[in-house]
Amino acid sequence: MDGPLNVWDYERLAEERLDANAHAYFAGGAGDESTMRDNVAAFQRLKLRPRVLVDVGAGTTRTTVLGTEISMPVVIAPLALQRLAHPDGELATARAAAAAGTIMCLSTATTTRPAEVAAAAPEAPRWFQVYVFDDRAITEELIAEAIDSGYGALVLTVDAPFLGRRERDLRIDFKIPEGITPAGNIFTEGFDLGLSWRDLEWLAGYGLPVVVKGLITAEDARLACEHGAAAVVVSNHGGRQLDGVSATVDALEEVVDAVDGRLEVLLDGGVRRGTDVLKALALGARAVLIGRAMVWALAVEGEAGVAHVLQLLRDEIQLGLALLGCRSPEDVSRGHVT
Ligand SMILES: Cc1cc2nc3c(=O)[nH]c(=O)nc-3n(C[C@H](O)[C@H](O)[C@H](O)COP(=O)(O)O)c2cc1C
Repeated sequence: MDGPLNVWDYERLAEERLDANAHAYFAGGAGDESTMRDNVAAFQRLKLRPRVLVDVGAGTTRTTVLGTEISMPVVIAPLALQRLAHPDGELATARAAAAAGTIMCLSTATTTRPAEVAAAAPEAPRWFQVYVFDDRAITEELIAEAIDSGYGALVLTVDAPFLGRRERDLRIDFKIPEGITPAGNIFTEGFDLGLSWRDLEWLAGYGLPVVVKGLITAEDARLACEHGAAAVVVSNHGGRQLDGVSATVDALEEVVDAVDGRLEVLLDGGVRRGTDVLKALALGARAVLIGRAMVWALAVEGEAGVAHVLQLLRDEIQLGLALLGCRSPEDVSRGHVT
């Protein structure tokens, strides 16, 4: 077989396909990129502990997040500027996620309007990621469009009062190509530096579940519970914000323990294999989000690429579950990883 067989193949092909400007933006992390690399390495350090002679007939990869049924415990992370990866951008991702039976979270910095993305896959569940700009009217307008277009949750990203220092972007003098306009422009609009836990209540006032994305400590996990979050995403923004923080999978258990079942815990950062998903589930995640794994496939093959990468991950999860001695994501427990 000479086509891509796994996420790493897509990563390599995407580097060949993308121009240097776009590749620097998608591939880069903050500072020395030590956290970005550690997100991947930490999954590789963890070891699975399979149980044998378990009946694994009639297994399933299906699960739920926030009450929504999905085909596997993998959803699409909010990723800015997808038309830099492929001309179909967010429309391709939305269609592929819908066909795969999972949720796409659309970025505030989407290069296709939220209403248009919704229209591309009208039946599919979708979430909207919120950055709160200094000029709140811009944020409020985007939230209003998302609500009108049937987005089912608001995902507040809390690890980015400023964008991290991404030296690949500085070296290449990264520019958004002409003709591509982000709905919320994270490069020109300042973020609201006064954003606080109280704003969770403001956001909840829109009537949708609020997901807090970008915390990695027990202290913040407890605050998220106290301020009414429906879920948290243990995330360091794919290593693009504060370099030197823990890999997300190393921080996961601390957050899961602090939350103590009060809300769902999701994770992103470094997920490249179905077995990474299983490790996150074993440490207490309900599901994971994929960022770069999705965008490499988008760059290589558009909608078909994203569909393929989701199918590859689902196949890896299905096989991994059976070899681990589990019939479903719910069966994966703390004893399955060390
Ligand atoms: C190119 C790129 C753009 C991103 N844009 C956003 C964004 O607009 N909003 C956001 O909340 N997170 C953004 N993220 C972070 C992702 O949602 C996610 O946390 C991260 O990609 C997970 O790590 P992974 O790429 O190793 O899967 C971005 C990440 C990348 C790589």
